[in-house]
Amino acid sequence: MLKIEKNKNIKAYTTLQLSARAEFFAILKSKEDLQEAIVWSKKNKKPLFILGGGSNVLISQTVKGLTLKNEIKGIKVVEKNKDYILVEAKSGELWGDFVDWSVRHNWHGLENLSLIYGTVGAAPMQNIGAYGVEIKDSFYHLHAIDLKSGQERIFSGPDCHFAYRESIFKNKLKGKYFIYAVTFKLQKMATLQLDYGAIRAHLLERGIKKPSLKNVSATIKIIRTEKLPNPVKMPNAGSFFKNLEISTIKFKALQKKYPDMPSWPISKTKVKIPAAWLIETAGFKGKKFGAVGMHKNQALVLINYRRASARQVLNLVKKIKQTVKKSFGLDLHEEVNII
Ligand code: EPU
Repeated sequence: MLKIEKNKNIKAYTTLQLSARAEFFAILKSKEDLQEAIVWSKKNKKPLFILGGGSNVLISQTVKGLTLKNEIKGIKVVEKNKDYILVEAKSGELWGDFVDWSVRHNWHGLENLSLIYGTVGAAPMQNIGAYGVEIKDSFYHLHAIDLKSGQERIFSGPDCHFAYRESIFKNKLKGKYFIYAVTFKLQKMATLQLDYGAIRAHLLERGIKKPSLKNVSATIKIIRTEKLPNPVKMPNAGSFFKNLEISTIKFKALQKKYPDMPSWPISKTKVKIPAAWLIETAGFKGKKFGAVGMHKNQALVLINYRRASARQVLNLVKKIKQTVKKSFGLDLHEEVNII
């Protein structure tokens, strides 16, 4: 039986910890709870809003309708053979716990995505990625439930339209489906992805020449802990902005003025530019503006230092976007979902 609360303070359910309320609120523990919520939403003519780990949202106003905190859990192996394993995780599982579980079993695919906050259900929403790996690389399919009809549908990888921090669930199907369970294809044997940034250097520093899967996961946890602030101690929502994909022509013109601007080619005509570099070069890294500011070790992470309001956060976001536009002629886009 779904317990629906009215005018609920949901600050503690988001990692940015901004003061926020939900008109109605309930915790989901099962598929039946969700079906009950769908019936309630129809009967009361109120929309549904799904909250996962709350690590990628900025709630700037009272959330209308019924906010559902997803705590539907469970992990099961659905198929196993000599090469691979199909594993299904329910969407309310914490992503980090699920990755640790796969690493403990020595199954390859998710190790580079260790210590990312949020839930399994939110992971395909924005095709989470880190250290050269994205979830689309080991994604098999997902079960989603239509928030209007309550009907279940399976989405394959191509159905999800995955791209850099994007999927169909953030675009065409935004707010239409509840992701119920995600199945991954994990490999028994695989080449470890060590080429991104400082992974290899960190392993060698610890005297590890032939790393195991567990070594890679542990190293990534060390690197992330050094760079990224713990949201429990310093409320934040991870990378606040997306990295930029710009044309090679535009990049070459910018490079004349900024010869040390980092970049990665992504195709013959496009390059990726780290938003962190633009924000740092524009002078925001480690700077505080009242209760908010950008982190001293990673300029892409916006911190709520002491009980900031959504307005204060949005003012800083506006200031950063304007300065970057003025200095480089480039538009930053938020990675965080602003509600
Ligand atoms: N950089 C700076 N200043 C900084 C930090 C970085 O100039 O303060 C430049 C450096 O040139 C560095 C480059 O940015 O080489 C890339 O930095 P980093 O490897 O730290 O990664 P990122 O591009 O800033 C992305 C993801 C992170 C993910 C890391 C590692 C996005 C928006 N962010 O950050 O994901 O952990 O790569 O793979 O793509 C998240 O999405 O919440 C997140 C933390």
